[in-house]
Amino acid sequence: MARKNIGAKPYIMPMPVLILSSYDEGGKPCAMLAVWGGISHEKEITVTVASQRNTLKGILSKGAFVVSMADVENAVACDFLGIASGNSMPDKFGRTGFHTTKAEFVDAPVIDELPFAVECRVKSYDAASWRLVGEIVNVSLDERILGEDGKVSFAKFHPLAFDWMNKIYLSLGEKVGNVYRDGLQLK
Ligand SMILES: Cc1cc2nc3c(=O)[nH]c(=O)nc-3n(C[C@H](O)[C@H](O)[C@H](O)COP(=O)(O)O)c2cc1C
Repeated sequence: MARKNIGAKPYIMPMPVLILSSYDEGGKPCAMLAVWGGISHEKEITVTVASQRNTLKGILSKGAFVVSMADVENAVACDFLGIASGNSMPDKFGRTGFHTTKAEFVDAPVIDELPFAVECRVKSYDAASWRLVGEIVNVSLDERILGEDGKVSFAKFHPLAFDWMNKIYLSLGEKVGNVYRDGLQLK
């Protein structure tokens, strides 16, 4: 089988599409889209957030943020959060039509329309590497994405994955295997 080298471009791996939300100086919700991030420890999330992002100002001043997962149902508004900046568009968040509720455990807004929200306290931000590390203090799930067993049902929840190479969003959902079990047949 022939393989093609494309250079050091690891960001072609499909990545989860995260929405970071916070409150700005005036107490209004602000939010941005980020794909360079993920769970880095049991109770820790790490996201690369460029230092000029408007949302970062709120995150650092409040010491808190919420990470939601963009989903199929809200793809347009989520993409908008990645291409417009609150630095130059004061009503950016309002234009999404999203509603918010203050998170129960941190001083940051949960976006009501996004059913999966991770509430985080800022652990550190490094302006040189742009690495934002958050301590996960709570996860809240909209009951509409839960199955009868109380777990997240991917028949009901359709998070996006980002494909840089084709510049598209993909929908996650189809079950194709069982973790810790399928490999046992080769043990
Ligand atoms: C698909 C996609 C992925 C992105 N990933 C990141 C990221 O990981 N980190 C980052 O700082 N910006 C990322 N951005 C850019 C920000 O979302 C964008 O600059 C946004 O306008 C910032 O908004 P704000 O200035 O209102 O905070 C991404 C944008 C898109 C469309």
